[in-house]
Amino acid sequence: MMHFDFSFPTRVHFGIDVLERALASELANMGNTVMLAYGGSSLKENGVFDRVTNVFDAAGKRIVEFGGVTPNPTYAKAQEGTALARAEHVDAVLAVGGGSVIDCCKIISVQAKTPDDIWKLELEQRVLPEDGLPLGAVVTASGTGAEMNAGAVITNEAISIKTGLLGTAPGFAILDPKLTITVPRMQVISGAFDTFSHAMETYFGASDADNPSDSIALAVMQNTVANIRRLLADIDDTDARGNLMWDSAMAENGLLKLGRATDFQAHQIEHQLGAFTDCNHGQGLAIIHPAYYRRAVAAASSKFARLGRTVFGVTAADDQAAASDAVEALSAFIEECGLPTKLGQLRSRVEITPELLRRVADTTNLVTSGPVRLSRDDVYDMLLECL
Ligand code: NZQ
Ligand code: ZN
Repeated sequence: MMHFDFSFPTRVHFGIDVLERALASELANMGNTVMLAYGGSSLKENGVFDRVTNVFDAAGKRIVEFGGVTPNPTYAKAQEGTALARAEHVDAVLAVGGGSVIDCCKIISVQAKTPDDIWKLELEQRVLPEDGLPLGAVVTASGTGAEMNAGAVITNEAISIKTGLLGTAPGFAILDPKLTITVPRMQVISGAFDTFSHAMETYFGASDADNPSDSIALAVMQNTVANIRRLLADIDDTDARGNLMWDSAMAENGLLKLGRATDFQAHQIEHQLGAFTDCNHGQGLAIIHPAYYRRAVAAASSKFARLGRTVFGVTAADDQAAASDAVEALSAFIEECGLPTKLGQLRSRVEITPELLRRVADTTNLVTSGPVRLSRDDVYDMLLECL
């Protein structure tokens, strides 16, 4: 294994109906004025907004509301939130939502502490922020695992780039499975597939044989599949939602990535697809993964075979046969989930044409630590196959 230093920055409060008690226990870490950030209408419709503000009101805290963070959060929205945080002298930020709200707040937190433009600082000058406003997260839609890491996936609409920035890792995260019960079915399943993808993309990164991460990643994948199947049978199964909520955090809290390289080529392609189309993240991944793995399978047949046998019950004795069975089992599972398999099925803000896919391919980060190295033309051809 490669060298690593590891610590968990995030206290996790997990459990049904844990919201009020957990939030109250964290108030001392949030100062007097707290920015309460959220997305669209769901929070006020399902009563979570009132439940959170009641806790702050009872403690005499001042709340600064910051709503309207959209899925695929934009850099402009993070800057808007930063301006508000500065103007209102907020002491801490509480993100209440899914990955989009949490990621937006990670950037507000660090941007509020520096006059320099975070995008330029990180991506052009290669300087990472060291300071940020304290941040907490209440997860209302699970899948990304954003609540337990410092990475923020942000769309810079001005230049059509969706990429990862380093923000503040939440100091605490509240994971109450019941808060997810109003999430629409499509989002529940696509979020869970995102979790599956995180474990799988970690597993397919370069690593030495028999390392612990591969085994843990396979366990997370196995558990995610089992609990997705429970939700396909009963979408209101709170235990299954809770299991997926923890799978989600496990897949992206850094534990699986210790001492190894990761792949994340499918994610890189999906992020640029999202930059141009504003598509749903998990749905984009569902379309890209089988096409990518059909290109990668020959280069890593024993790994694909192990995944197929462990996660999907593939029985072929020969590794090459088991590997290609694994890719087809993944593809069949995506269909079983009711996730899209073609780009035309995505909700997109523009028509998805070959010209657009060329731009996606030409702006995608190409990964060097996965099972194969794709060229831009490979990415383009692959996307054309997905049309
Ligand atoms: O905006 P509202 O009205 O709240 O509706 C949201 C949104 O439409 C809805 N929702 C959330 N909680 C709800 C609810 N609806 C009803 N009841 C509730 N309790 O869910 C919709 C999607 O929310 P969003 O936050 O966009 O979903 P998700 O958690 O999948 O986050 C996706 C974003 O995270 C990034 C993705 O690229 C994408 O931008 N990712 C972040 C990662 C990270 N930081 O570690 C890793 C991932 O790979 C991913 O890239
Ligand atoms: Zn993801």
